Amino acid sequence: MRRTVLITGASAGIGAALARTYAAKGWNLILTARREGPLTRLADELTAAHGVTATVIPEDLSDPAAPERLIAAVAARGLTVDGLVNNAGFSRVTGFLDTDLAAHRAMIQVMLTAPVELSRLVLPGMVQRGFGRVLNVASLAGQMPATGGDTLYGPIKSFLIKASQGLHLETLGTGVHVTVLNPGYTLTEFHDVNGSRDQVSRAYPAWMWMDAARVAQIGYDACEANRASVTPGVMNNVMAGLARVLPDGLALKMVANHARRLERL
Ligand SMILES: NC(=O)c1ccc[n+]([C@@H]2O[C@H](COP(=O)([O-])OP(=O)(O)OC[C@H]3O[C@@H](n4cnc5c(N)ncnc54)[C@H](OP(=O)(O)O)[C@@H]3O)[C@@H](O)[C@H]2O)c1
Repeated sequence: MRRTVLITGASAGIGAALARTYAAKGWNLILTARREGPLTRLADELTAAHGVTATVIPEDLSDPAAPERLIAAVAARGLTVDGLVNNAGFSRVTGFLDTDLAAHRAMIQVMLTAPVELSRLVLPGMVQRGFGRVLNVASLAGQMPATGGDTLYGPIKSFLIKASQGLHLETLGTGVHVTVLNPGYTLTEFHDVNGSRDQVSRAYPAWMWMDAARVAQIGYDACEANRASVTPGVMNNVMAGLARVLPDGLALKMVANHARRLERL
């Protein structure tokens, strides 16, 4: 029997790579994001390559009604969610004060509220059936000291990390695996969307960037192994480890110096 995974933010980047990974393992797919065209092209590609079924349900997760509407649309098609990947996300580097409230609200809605609500909507059924997978895509930023400019991004990801770890513990022994994936710099559309592509490309050498397919495979494997969390890449693990042992004041200073260097580039 094929399982079915619902993937948010599947129209690009890590979400699309996760769709490829799950399909290659024989999972049927429910793909969502705002852009229907890329979702449909990916669905067709993966159906042809792996013989899986791929259902496209476009949604804008910044709409507070979207999570419940999405799960209702899934149920209306007679589909069961065996796996949930909360991946949709973006960052804003425009500064807290210069970004309007609606934009902050959207960020919190897409990356914090929607994953919580989608998890709450599908987890009871997973536990009842004795099988489930929830893979939350957070970020290395959630493990690092705070940064200015994209002020809310790190804290939102820290929330997702902690909430995932709590859910991991809460579902142990039920057949449900909950894992948080914390990518570092990954080659996707992310830095084009937030307008920082040129800057980050100059600041970070190619070896610091990971391929979305590799990140997706590491996330998939960690979730199948029922690991609470995984940070892909040696360098990212070194940085996360450093952030854990450095005193807060020193860590903040280092981040501030780094930000000044980025501004000069
Ligand atoms: N790339 C990195 O360096 C990096 C590092 C750490 C963590 N991450 C995290 O990885 C996840 C995926 O990002 P990515 O790097 O793959 O970026 P990406 O290539 O820009 O993809 C982002 C995905 O999120 C979707 N999305 C954005 N806003 C949405 C909304 N309002 N409603 C529904 N879907 C929405 C986009 O689809 P539509 O535009 O079609 O809606 C797209 O499919 C994010 O949570 C991000 O924070 C990325």
